[in-house]
Amino acid sequence: MKSIEEIKAEIENFKVENAESLEQFRLQFLSKKSEIQSLFGQIKNIAQENRKEFGQLVNDLRDLAQNSYNRYKAVIESTTNTKTVEIPDITRPAARQTVGSMHPISIMMNEVRQIFEEIGFSAVEGPDIEDDWHVFTALNFAEEHPARDMQDTFFIKVRPDVLLRTHTSSLQVRTMESQQPPIRVICPGRVFRNEAITSRAHCIFHQVEGLYIAENVSFADMKQTLLYFAQRMFGNEVKIRLRPSYFPFTEPSAEVDISCNICGGAGCNLCKHTGWVEILGCGMVDPNVLENCGIDSNKYSGFAFGLGIERMTMLKYKTNDIRLYFENDVRFLQQFKAATK
Ligand code: PHE
Repeated sequence: MKSIEEIKAEIENFKVENAESLEQFRLQFLSKKSEIQSLFGQIKNIAQENRKEFGQLVNDLRDLAQNSYNRYKAVIESTTNTKTVEIPDITRPAARQTVGSMHPISIMMNEVRQIFEEIGFSAVEGPDIEDDWHVFTALNFAEEHPARDMQDTFFIKVRPDVLLRTHTSSLQVRTMESQQPPIRVICPGRVFRNEAITSRAHCIFHQVEGLYIAENVSFADMKQTLLYFAQRMFGNEVKIRLRPSYFPFTEPSAEVDISCNICGGAGCNLCKHTGWVEILGCGMVDPNVLENCGIDSNKYSGFAFGLGIERMTMLKYKTNDIRLYFENDVRFLQQFKAATK
């Protein structure tokens, strides 16, 4: 038989690291069949004069085992996740799913695209980083032409002729260079101008420009197309007016106003009490531009227009600060849920 000392050493050296070894510890030292229990059974066989002392030693041994067990158990329980699995309450109302909304600029962009696609224009896209030819030179901006100042340009330092496009007319050039008339395209995209940021202007904004080139395209065709667009966008009661303007790439050129959709033409802050608000620039494509792009200007004519999406969005949703479209404040954006398709 093992001595009491040996069992004591076994208790002290026993490694309890997890629930299994804890259970083994219990079986070995604290169960009914343990050696310590059988020592209790032997007390009666011990000589009378030693019995008390022997009994005391066995008691101490059992206490040592029990105390060690309690200590190990507490440590293991505190480090093991013993939480009972929560049974879900199936009567609880479901968590609300918040559905996102489209950005108002995307909503407007898609709306403009759709109106023009329905009347036969197809959308073309292209690079934000452009070269001088596609943004200026091909569009009849002569070198040193003061009109280049109309659009303060961000240049990219790699080469003096690399820049961020200031309008998506660059895509009209790319289209004319790569296909012959009839051409009917719209060019949606982001554009960049080195302008101070205010409630009315931003250094990034979005445009949809359009181009129609075929035989015998007239100024009247342009006017009718733009009236159709304005009425689809702002309602049938909307009127348009054309004011003479200047762009290097169109001749004649015009700016198009719509009757103010806030006051209905009576005069308010948005229209500066004129009853009209400007929505786009347009004109008949200058023959020089057609020739620059390899199109016979004796045979073909066409019109072009360009509109600012932020401006259209401000008019349609009656907001008065362009910066709202770039700050991504959720309190603003979530108001466009209903318009998200
Ligand atoms: N490209 C011009 C701009 O960004 C808009 C425009 C396009 C004007 C086509 C006339 C014709 O200001």
